[in-house]
Amino acid sequence: MAKKLRILNVVGARPNFIKIAPLLREQKKLPGEIEPILLHTGQHYDYQMSQRIFGDLELPEPDIYLDVGSGSHAEQTARVMIPFEKYLVEKPPDLVLVVGDVNSTLACAVAASKMQIPIAHVEAGLRSFDRTMPEEINRVVTDQLADNLFVTESAAITNLINEGRPKRAISFAGNVMIDSLITAIEKSREDVLDQNNLTPGEYAVVTLHRASNVDDSGTFAGIITALVKISEEIRVIFPVHPRTRNNFKKFGLQQLIESKDSNLVLCDPVGYLDFVALQRDARLILTDSGGIQEESCYMKIPCLTLRHNTERPVTIECGSNRLVGTDPDMIVRYALETIENPPTQISTPKYWDGKASPRIIEEILGKYGIGFVSHRASAQHIHG
Ligand code: UD1
Ligand code: UDP
Repeated sequence: MAKKLRILNVVGARPNFIKIAPLLREQKKLPGEIEPILLHTGQHYDYQMSQRIFGDLELPEPDIYLDVGSGSHAEQTARVMIPFEKYLVEKPPDLVLVVGDVNSTLACAVAASKMQIPIAHVEAGLRSFDRTMPEEINRVVTDQLADNLFVTESAAITNLINEGRPKRAISFAGNVMIDSLITAIEKSREDVLDQNNLTPGEYAVVTLHRASNVDDSGTFAGIITALVKISEEIRVIFPVHPRTRNNFKKFGLQQLIESKDSNLVLCDPVGYLDFVALQRDARLILTDSGGIQEESCYMKIPCLTLRHNTERPVTIECGSNRLVGTDPDMIVRYALETIENPPTQISTPKYWDGKASPRIIEEILGKYGIGFVSHRASAQHIHG
């Protein structure tokens, strides 16, 4: 019997679970060719940030759980690298598959690279060109180390080539986040709207967790002031990320909200299917999330990104996303303007079609699988 390709799939944080789910499902369709292993570093561990999302995605229990928890960047990265390296020594896989740009992505890419284990990076090449953003450092380093670079948009190809990565390593496969989203749209239900007194088309959804927005008390307070103002016009639902929840308390910002009426509704992070339902029926989304800029683009819901840059320029080109920065007056102005005059023409980026995962797994098998014969259309390879 031919040897199966052992693929070690790495996840650590909420967006990783959403990206890996369709890739894992695709691997499991080929039990004769692939032995998939799921490793969860434990970077995210709250029920609502991890187990709940696993459940919504029908992800199996991880085969390996590293339980690293929170810490400074160096602490967290090192705490992933040490047991991860040990695992690689004991049970070397044929390929390590990492997704996104979180500390777990970087840590596992560095450890695998030093052991000469091939790496595939899904969602390669995105750049904000802002190295004050920890994720940008994770992206640049991971992409230098990865042998297979699967990109979601054409700007990423240019970025990788400009950084000296060989064209033969780059494949335009599409967006696995959208693979998950398409499945979730079919499964999601509207209960979450009823539970929060939300009428379809008449509310805004907010998420915030970027360190640059919520770790600085002035910036964070300014954004909250803007949200309170917007909530005078439209009901606002705000599932609060744990980093943000901690800083609400640390900076004493709850009063800004509690003193106002309750049209700004704060809640714990919601499950993935519930969040998809919230986005789908929203009038407007305000966020600093990477994934939500993409999901809103696919669902054609206007998104205001509370940042000065984005690593996902295709969402702006397609007409759904607008960078509004963090100035409270600008946030309020653009929000009211978008409520009044939403964009009318929003297009869908190339290859955001629900088939990114089969393209990626096909390509990996073609390259590393023994005797695998391809029967499907592959990712667009970048030649030259
Ligand atoms: C991380 C990623 C970010 C990603 C985000 C997705 C890095 C550098 N950042 O940011 O790119 O967009 O995940 O949500 O990898 N905490 C809990 N419970 C949890 C997880 C976190 O209470 O389950 C708290 C801890 O106080 C922790 C803080 O949140 O210190 C930040 O968590 P961390 O994983 O370091 O970064 P995120 O802000 O979640
Ligand atoms: N999400 C969720 N529940 C929430 C908020 C977001 O399931 O309460 C999902 C959202 O649909 C998207 C992903 O989490 O798929 C985005 O993750 P996050 O914003 O934490 O990270 P980023 O994409 O910025 O790295």
